[in-house]
Amino acid sequence: MCNENEIELNRQKEYIEKCRTYTAAFQVEHGRAPRACVVTFGCQMNARDSEKLTGILKEAGYELTGAEEEADFVLYNTCTVRDNANQRVYGRLGHLNSLKKKKPYLKIALCGCMMQEQAVVEKIRKSYRFVDLIFGTHNLFRFAEFLSDSLASEDMVVDIWDETDKIVENLPVERKYRYKSGVNIMFGCNNFCSYCIVPYVRGRERSREPEEILGEIERLVEDGVVEVMLLGQNVNSYGKNLEHPITFAQLLRRVDQIEGLRRIRFMTSHPKDLSDELIQVMQHSPKICRHLHLPLQAGSDRILEAMNRRYTKEQYLALVEKLKHAIPDISITTDIIVGFPGETSADVDETIDVVRRVQFDNAFTFIYSPRTGTPAAAMDNQVPEEIVHENFDRLLSVVQETAKQRAALLEGKVMEALVEEVNEQDPAFVTGRLSNNMLVHFKADRRLVGKFVMVKLDHCHGFYYTGRMVDWLSQTKHTRLGKMVDNQWLN
Ligand code: SAH
Ligand code: SF4
Ligand code: F3S
Repeated sequence: MCNENEIELNRQKEYIEKCRTYTAAFQVEHGRAPRACVVTFGCQMNARDSEKLTGILKEAGYELTGAEEEADFVLYNTCTVRDNANQRVYGRLGHLNSLKKKKPYLKIALCGCMMQEQAVVEKIRKSYRFVDLIFGTHNLFRFAEFLSDSLASEDMVVDIWDETDKIVENLPVERKYRYKSGVNIMFGCNNFCSYCIVPYVRGRERSREPEEILGEIERLVEDGVVEVMLLGQNVNSYGKNLEHPITFAQLLRRVDQIEGLRRIRFMTSHPKDLSDELIQVMQHSPKICRHLHLPLQAGSDRILEAMNRRYTKEQYLALVEKLKHAIPDISITTDIIVGFPGETSADVDETIDVVRRVQFDNAFTFIYSPRTGTPAAAMDNQVPEEIVHENFDRLLSVVQETAKQRAALLEGKVMEALVEEVNEQDPAFVTGRLSNNMLVHFKADRRLVGKFVMVKLDHCHGFYYTGRMVDWLSQTKHTRLGKMVDNQWLN
């Protein structure tokens, strides 16, 4: 860790202390600690950022709550990838305003990708004047400082940076799950897909040093984590710009060697950068999960080119072929956009053809949303809404049909699941995640949360299974002997 990092970290620790004087005074006045509620919109990156924000709030003396109504400090960590993400934030802000009228000392803060858009910040300054604090994605590590400034001020505190080359390590983190965790391996994106706002709001690609990543995972494992999800907008280009370049596959090899870590996932892989070396590492590692999220976006070469995705339909199909050949039990999921400017029904037929041929285990389908400042938003051939909806519905029914067929293949098999949580509807049941990322609900004791068990997948319900636990005792004996439990199909 370099000196600059330590200086920044110490500065933030001083601000945390300052906040603690505020929270202590609150405690005296109200007879309880102040409560904070962090609401996360968007992707896994934001979820991980929220854990950092929550960690700081906790150190500052806040108690955490999931209910905005109970909170004395509400923080929205926003997303702007599609317009509906923005609309949800504006909608909820109205509700916060009415809460603040009843509780004038309620502090309202906004951060995340949406705040990196100038027009959004201007709108909030003008029409949402009850907001107390706004900061962005590049200066999130200064949250303690902003919080302290905001607590000491009646005015709206706004601090947004256009970019950063800094990565501040070792901020406090409050994990949502004790047995699994996201781990950032890189920030930002250099790909500039023509529809996408992420490179503008998250900045240029910056990789973390492998030693920092490995050190963080080792500490997580010591703290009880058995599964990590390595996070980046395009993990396949990890490490290229480091002083001592390293490939993502090489990083994975090193993560794979961490003792006590049982499962490794990663998100997201850009098809254009997926290397043979990565396929080989996946093939030979029992820890790397049998799941790959490989966004297709579109099946028509013309649209792929306009999207600046830099692969063709045939190249995508050939890559999938290679993956399935090397790792036959791999589950492949994807993202697809419908209604990109100029997209015709014949183009969507090409996408549907890819869905049929690949047989995705799941596909997230999105209606194209023009984002201000991106090249696609300025294209003059935007597709009429009725055509988009018609094509979207056509695609969705094929996606659902193929996903169902894929899921049905595992019915009756016995597989290893990591128990994630107690079922909300029926506390006698728990939910487990399979290596291929599918969920299974089964009867089990809540003490198994965070443990690996073998489950028979009795019934497939399209996107999830119901099942029953089998032979847990022999399984624990197995792991006590220190052997990896094989996550291949058992029968
Ligand atoms: N870095 C990741 C994805 C980030 S955004 C990747 O390259 O795959 C997640 C998904 O949102 C994208 O895969 C894309 O399908 C979708 N998306 C991004 N911008 C969009 C837009 N303007 N309209 C609709 N969907 C969009
Ligand atoms: Fe957006 Fe493309 Fe970067 Fe993904 S790779 S974040 S879709 S620009
Ligand atoms: Fe949204 Fe930002 Fe993630 S725009 S999808 S939260 S990187």
